[in-house]
Amino acid sequence: MRILVTGGCGFIGTNYIRRLLSHDPDAVVVNLDKLTYAGNPLNLDGAAEEFGARYRFVRGDIADAELLPRVLEEHGVEAVVNFAAETHVDRSIDDPAPFLTTNVLGTQNLLEASRRYGVEQFVHVSTDEVYGSLGPTGSFTEGTPLAPNSPYSASKASSDHLCRAYHMTYGFPVVITRCSNNYGPYQFPEKLIPLMLTKAENDEPLPVYGDGLNVRDWIYVLDHCLGVDLALRKGAPGEIYNFGADCEKTNLEVIRTLLQIVGKPESLITFVADRPGHDRRYAMGYDKARRELGFEPEYDFAEGMRETVAWYQNNRDWLENVRSGSYIDFMNRWYGERK
Ligand code: NAD
Ligand code: DAU
Repeated sequence: MRILVTGGCGFIGTNYIRRLLSHDPDAVVVNLDKLTYAGNPLNLDGAAEEFGARYRFVRGDIADAELLPRVLEEHGVEAVVNFAAETHVDRSIDDPAPFLTTNVLGTQNLLEASRRYGVEQFVHVSTDEVYGSLGPTGSFTEGTPLAPNSPYSASKASSDHLCRAYHMTYGFPVVITRCSNNYGPYQFPEKLIPLMLTKAENDEPLPVYGDGLNVRDWIYVLDHCLGVDLALRKGAPGEIYNFGADCEKTNLEVIRTLLQIVGKPESLITFVADRPGHDRRYAMGYDKARRELGFEPEYDFAEGMRETVAWYQNNRDWLENVRSGSYIDFMNRWYGERK
């Protein structure tokens, strides 16, 4: 299968492409990535040598209406997996505009080019955040009404609606996947786990928003990649599939686990001003994916966290490489205002 993967130089896209090319000898991947601050070409360094002509990289924007038809035609693309997005909630609070440009207009542009070209399967990778926030009990299902609370999640919900509309209006074969919080190798160090890990190792204060009791439902990135792959091969057009791993944790629990692994004291924990509109709790129900796709997450949290910490400790050059330029500017401004 000839697959266009967008955003393949980001966290999940990188893990997805590496997994796909290793597991499926018939897969040919074209990775289209704009290389924003979150996209790192080093992530797939060596892929062209390792996988030969089965891996191609194109630097480009999913919102570029002239580029996409050329890429689809030139590579004879049969399927699209859309990871490309602006993804960090705090950045969407700081400046929502790029989130609308990429996540809404970019997705629509990709849908339109794919429909006109005749792509046979289109997987749109979305998030549990489109469902909004839960109270102390219950979990999201695919039927939960959308109630996004941040500019990021509103832009993802909009892109989900466009996918649905392309299916209903044009019969376009699009599948939407929604996953809970991922962790694992190659995650950009603005996100909770790599951020706290890097700070703890440098004996810096760990900035916990609010009371630290917000709950996220964690899944190891390769389990999410398994789900996306199942959706690509078995997902029914027009359907939505949730993915999770039954792993609800408060942010303080996650941070304490990390501190134990790296042997640093809890006194590094520092409570700072809360994130505006901060969702209290996510919990993902994924019975449908289990039943219809045969999805079953494989990693447990303790194992996944040990592997994640080991990866960051063995890849300090990668961390230094991404922690530069615009990363530092945003971090200084955002956390400067939260003291
Ligand atoms: P990321 O920020 O690490 O990577 C995003 C990638 O998209 C980067 O390589 C970036 O360069 C690229 N990109 C951004 N704008 C682009 C554009 N206009 N055209 C082409 N490429 C562009 O993100 P991630 O955490 O890997 O998330 C990937 C997808 O999965 C996103 O759609 C996100 O909404 C979704 N998702 C993420 C999580 C999570 O926990 N990280 C959970 C559920 C769903
Ligand atoms: O749920 C899926 C979503 O998970 C994805 O759609 C998003 O792309 C991804 O960024 C992630 O969103 P979150 O907002 O849940 O992740 P983040 O790592 O930013 O924050 C996780 C929790 O940690 C959240 O409750 C906020 C808290 N937090 C985060 C940071 C960066 C802190 O307390 N301090 C921090 O400095």
